[in-house]
Amino acid sequence: GIITFIDINGQSKETIPTNEVNLMQLAVNNNILGIDAECGGCCSCATCHVVINNKLDIIPKAQGDELELLNFVPNKEDNSRLSCQVLIDETLNDLIVEVKSA
Ligand code: FES
Repeated sequence: GIITFIDINGQSKETIPTNEVNLMQLAVNNNILGIDAECGGCCSCATCHVVINNKLDIIPKAQGDELELLNFVPNKEDNSRLSCQVLIDETLNDLIVEVKSA
């Protein structure tokens, strides 16, 4: 399935997951601008901040450690997630993911 990223400059790019485990890895492997992923995916940097734009009935909201970290992000929105914490499976087909700054 296709997952579309809208990068930090507003450019959209369709990606197809291969062996990536989470949305951060998918973004990095596809050179999506604005996903710095400084901590490498261990939920401690928030430089992989994204907002989920669709499929909101299926994609869960941030919880626990992820939500605590997001609460320090000034431009957090209701549907903000840390992309390293969103695991890729077939339910993400046709997802639209907007990259935000940390
Ligand atoms: Fe650091 Fe996601 S890569 S919190």
